Amino acid sequence: MSTGSPRVLPAESGIAEAAAVLRAGGLVAFPTETVYGLGANALDARAAARIFEAKARPSFDPLISHLADAADLPGLVGAVPPAVAALVERFWPGPLTLIVDRPAAIPPIVTSGLDTMAVRVPDEPSARALIAAAGVPVAAPSANRFGQLSPTRAEHVVAGLGAAVDVVLDGGPTRCGIESTIVDARGERPVVLRLGALPVEALIEAAGPVEVRQGSSGQPVAPGTLAAHYAPRTPLRLGPAAEGDGGRRGFLAFREPPARGDWAAVEVLSPEGDLTVAAARLFDALHRLDATGVTEIVAEPVPEVGVGRAINDRLRRAAATWH
Ligand code: TXA
Ligand code: MG
Repeated sequence: MSTGSPRVLPAESGIAEAAAVLRAGGLVAFPTETVYGLGANALDARAAARIFEAKARPSFDPLISHLADAADLPGLVGAVPPAVAALVERFWPGPLTLIVDRPAAIPPIVTSGLDTMAVRVPDEPSARALIAAAGVPVAAPSANRFGQLSPTRAEHVVAGLGAAVDVVLDGGPTRCGIESTIVDARGERPVVLRLGALPVEALIEAAGPVEVRQGSSGQPVAPGTLAAHYAPRTPLRLGPAAEGDGGRRGFLAFREPPARGDWAAVEVLSPEGDLTVAAARLFDALHRLDATGVTEIVAEPVPEVGVGRAINDRLRRAAATWH
């Protein structure tokens, strides 16, 4: 963890200054509708290298490039395959990252040497205004240290990255709370490389049958899919609560607190049982449980439907870190 603090500016009024930092090769953390991103000029290999350094991110883990507008895609990558263009048309701006061929303008460090590139247009006005003001595509992974909990608030970014980032734009808590869904739609049938905020059901409705092919470990297709990832510092176990649980443990519940046990801390994601609300609160609740000093977090899986699939995916990977 680095010492010192970055400059924290309000998301709207800080855009011009943050865009200048991006153009000068600096790092800007900014809110998207999913999580906070750690941005750098995607056309500048040295700026992109600073992202890997700040996150302690392995160089084999490629970055997502962000555009201000869907209309900017052909200008960057040339011809867009029809199936990809159809998803762009339907879901951008939004929490869908698409795989395209890497254009020559994007240095290989951004894509970790792959000849493909991940790209999306975030559905967050201040993020799009920032990218437009910078006038370049912005490479941005989640603004956390590699493998740790994703940031859904500016405070999470400051606590996790400190002065390794030059400017943090604070736009409050992010709306979706979980990363974008990553899809490779270049082949015959779309392949989901990472479950995320755009539910698989919505993709199927738009594009027909899809294949979910998340990497496990060793050879990740999309490294948010490393078996162990998104981990709190506190050991996490998948629920339900077992006999004798409680004590100095914390519980992460979907709808209601556990019936039994005397827990040191309890977080309820959505009393009304709304998976979208639960996703929005997931990482924030885990950050809070982590800060309480509990000895273990017991997390209850949510219904395996819609964005619930992505929530359970994150919980499983967090749990896998401790086994
Ligand atoms: O919601 C999001 O996607 C957030 C916000 C900031 O946009 N970003 C994010 O980035 O989650 P990150 O770095 O935490 O995850 C990016 C994922 C990684 O798992 C990476 O491997 C995958 O995208 N990826 C990037 N380029 C790829 C490529 N060419 N092929 C397959 N996967 C790729
Ligand atoms: Mg990440």
